Amino acid sequence: MKHRITLIPGDGIGPEVAAAVVSIIEASGVEIEWEEHLAGQQALEKFGKTLPDELIESIQRNKVGLKGPVTTPVGKGFTSVNVGLRKTLDLFANLRPIRALPSIPCRNPGLDLVVVRENTESLYSGIEHEIIPGVIESLKIITEKASTRIARFACAYARNEKRKKITCVHKANIMKLSDGLFLRCFEEVGKLYPEIERQNMIVDNTSMQLVMRPEQFDILLCENLYGDIISDLCAGLIGGLGLVPGANIGEKGAVFEAVHGSAPDIAGKGIANPTALLQSAILMLTHIEERQAAEKIETAMLKVFEEGEVRTRDIGGSASTNEFADAIIEKMN
Ligand code: NAI
Repeated sequence: MKHRITLIPGDGIGPEVAAAVVSIIEASGVEIEWEEHLAGQQALEKFGKTLPDELIESIQRNKVGLKGPVTTPVGKGFTSVNVGLRKTLDLFANLRPIRALPSIPCRNPGLDLVVVRENTESLYSGIEHEIIPGVIESLKIITEKASTRIARFACAYARNEKRKKITCVHKANIMKLSDGLFLRCFEEVGKLYPEIERQNMIVDNTSMQLVMRPEQFDILLCENLYGDIISDLCAGLIGGLGLVPGANIGEKGAVFEAVHGSAPDIAGKGIANPTALLQSAILMLTHIEERQAAEKIETAMLKVFEEGEVRTRDIGGSASTNEFADAIIEKMN
């Protein structure tokens, strides 16, 4: 069966890592027709919109997208394409599996946990205004509906993946109403999943525990802002942003993306690590029920890591993006 998938290469190192990943997927034998779309600054220049209608319609039609990083200007300019995409398509769950890769030097070899992040509200509601000059108000929105929905997602994911424990990360000691509601929704939903151990932990303690004893965690359930920060912290525990995958999942579609940014410092040099996007693509292939291809690519990737001869610079090697992709393709043959 031929799949149609929306491809957003993004900018910066995005097009380089996307091309490498597409070549690996093609070599795995799975048949995909890619619908390629621009987003961000390039789309703004061409279509007058950072998220063109054609792109949104393409994902709505195909129900699956693969996305590289897109630059967001800091403190000015257009709002984040990533946040916009998640909101427009209601991709309410962000999934970041954190699994140490063989023979990659890192703080926590053997670590295996998952961060589930609520993707649509909290401080990312983008409701900010100036009350009087010099005073800004930024609103944190937490609703019962979204909190219950993400708690259900986390519990169902834990059950499907046979994971044993969910830790709800919060700051309900200070934000008693908003984080209190998020926590309460988790406790309510969690009662329907008696086989899953429930725990809750304040976000500052969670950060320290993650650095000192991360193996105690299995699934971390977070509201949007905490999830954003915690998931990067977790990426750092196993070798950095160039390695970990991410998925944004909704009821009507899913976008799989690298969690790192557009890395302007190394863009265009052909040295970016495509592993994060490749791992996201592996999640995507599993999602579209192409498990065989997903396993084939994952096995080849792990072999390349185990042998340790072909690695990109961010993880101590000297290989280019394409050399790394070719090594994986060779292992699949
Ligand atoms: P970044 O992730 O682009 O870079 C941080 C550091 O990690 C840099 O030294 C970079 O060279 C390195 N790095 C990142 N990905 C790598 C890879 N695949 N291989 C090798 N090294 C890699 O974060 P930064 O600099 O904060 O953000 C740059 C731009 O990206 C900003 O405009 C930001 O808004 C955007 N961004 C986009 C994201 C997305 O589209 N999902 C996520 C995060 C940031």
